Amino acid sequence: MLADASMHDHLSEELFVHLNPEQEARLANAPAKIDVRDLNFWYGETHALKKINLPIVEGAVTAFIGPSGCGKSTLLKCFNRMHDVEADARHTGEILMRGPAGLMDAHDEHIDPPLLRRRFGWVAQKPNPFPSSVYDNIAYPATLHGLTRSRRELNDHVREMLEAASMWDEMKDRLHESGADLSGGQQQRLCIARALSPRPEVLLMDEPCGSLDPISTERVEALIHKLRGTVTIVIITHNMEEAARVSDFVAFFKLGEMLEYGPAKDVLLHPKNPECLAYLTGQFG
Ligand SMILES: Nc1ncnc2c1ncn2[C@@H]1O[C@H](COP(=O)(O)OP(=O)(O)OP(=O)(O)O)[C@@H](O)[C@H]1O
Ligand SMILES: [Mg+2]
Repeated sequence: MLADASMHDHLSEELFVHLNPEQEARLANAPAKIDVRDLNFWYGETHALKKINLPIVEGAVTAFIGPSGCGKSTLLKCFNRMHDVEADARHTGEILMRGPAGLMDAHDEHIDPPLLRRRFGWVAQKPNPFPSSVYDNIAYPATLHGLTRSRRELNDHVREMLEAASMWDEMKDRLHESGADLSGGQQQRLCIARALSPRPEVLLMDEPCGSLDPISTERVEALIHKLRGTVTIVIITHNMEEAARVSDFVAFFKLGEMLEYGPAKDVLLHPKNPECLAYLTGQFG
């Protein structure tokens, strides 16, 4: 998407997230949930990520911004090792993930990739519910991972996840309808509920509002606010106002390099890097 030339001027202070004192204190003391150190990544000859150093703060919302092809999705997929299936993908550096045993490299030989992946939820740009009922979309991951022991526990779990996604009231009488029959915005919130179903530690969202209308976008953004603090969120967006509205931290990427990182207000209103400023003011898309 091409940035609007006057976009930068539209980012007023009021747009940004306002945290309550308790949230502020939690954020100020939060450790890195993921600590990326000197990460390089290649698809064959393509050097897609270049010496990335970046913390993903626990319980916070971090937005990745930057022009198309700069490596945002690639980095997101490094976190949960989705690249393992790519034949000629390789990396150097570390992706340290905080767990009960402290920080551990995502590629440590003691890590079991499916177990690592279970610690993440993934939300894609285009809503992609399973071709089954609303209920089963959420029940399936819980059953698969053995999170519930009876039909009653499963019913409670489905309800809890739909409540977490702020759609229980809308869905309680439609549980046995097909997920594919919902509106696009409802499908995307269902996909978020499904992503939350295995109780992930980190939610990865690759342009989750990219295909939604403004009202559905608002509801997904409200959901992100509600989840803040309960799960660590990384969101990719091409919409700078959205980055301002939802994120605590912003990382700007260009041609595989991370050129700026910091609190959302600092990066979006007062970027230090000239390329980041040029991007925000619409000088390149
Ligand atoms: N599976 C792949 N195989 C080979 N090259 C790839 C693959 N996926 C991405 N690339 C290349 O890696 C670079 C980074 O792509 P990536 O998809 O991470 O960018 P992006 O910032 O997410 O872009 P967009 O905003 O368009 O989604 C690009 O040069 C892209 O062409
Ligand atoms: Mg992408």
